[in-house]
Amino acid sequence: MPIDFSVSRWIDNVASAQWARESRVLRGIGEALPDVVVQSPPLAEVHRLDLALFVVFEEAALRVSGALTRLAPTPHALSFAAQQTMDEARHHEMFRCRLATASAAAALDDTAATAQILIPPLRSFIDRCYEVADGGSFIEGMVLMNLVLEGMAHPLYAYEERYWAPLDPYLAQLVRAAFTDETRHVAFGADVVRRLLSEDPDQRAKVAALCRDGRRAMGEIFSVYIREFVGLFDAVARLHPHLFAGAEFAPGRLIAETPYEEQVALIEASISREHARLVARAGLD
Ligand SMILES: [Fe+2]
Ligand SMILES: [Fe+2]
Repeated sequence: MPIDFSVSRWIDNVASAQWARESRVLRGIGEALPDVVVQSPPLAEVHRLDLALFVVFEEAALRVSGALTRLAPTPHALSFAAQQTMDEARHHEMFRCRLATASAAAALDDTAATAQILIPPLRSFIDRCYEVADGGSFIEGMVLMNLVLEGMAHPLYAYEERYWAPLDPYLAQLVRAAFTDETRHVAFGADVVRRLLSEDPDQRAKVAALCRDGRRAMGEIFSVYIREFVGLFDAVARLHPHLFAGAEFAPGRLIAETPYEEQVALIEASISREHARLVARAGLD
């Protein structure tokens, strides 16, 4: 059954139904920062840095998907790039507002956390995405953004949601909301890449090589961030054990009972497994 990527379906199912539902849940939780985040400096720092990383990713996704509307080769692809642009604008705004709240509570500028978290290899990867999107290749832009950057980030959302649920349920809900949209973005990325390359094996081999190179570069970048954030959460969990008493790292596994190295290894294994599945769906394996 082909995926329906029409704008009218997106308005009915996403903007009108899904987003309205998510906004109700967020209003129910309330946007005030939890006391524990305000009062614990190490927790406040990991909170700001994680939000800053979301802001960096969402801004890149927004700028690339917006540029891809200029390049979309089919009406189907054009319609989807437009929807993704709105999805990413919403994610960018949600995380940016939460970062502004968190930064204000610590009397810091938002840009402090963004500058601290943006490591040079990620800056280079994002610049590469902008060059490809500005230079005119829809399919290559789609591969780098939807299959590599988002495709590899996608498995992390479930972990992020579980880490934040006991500390900042509002942020956990923002992550869940973005995850729902990202699931569509990676599914579309795989679908459009497979369709556009189905009759061109030479181009498919070229795009598969781009995907492999991008996966290698982003694999190293994610490895840095996963180690940093799992380490920061580990330090916070040791400082405030009561907060993590019932918190799960994975279904049925408590954070408090999963050693640092095992958390890192399990997260990296989820990325490898789910990304390999996505690449196969796109016909690039
Ligand atoms: Fe997004
Ligand atoms: Fe996305």
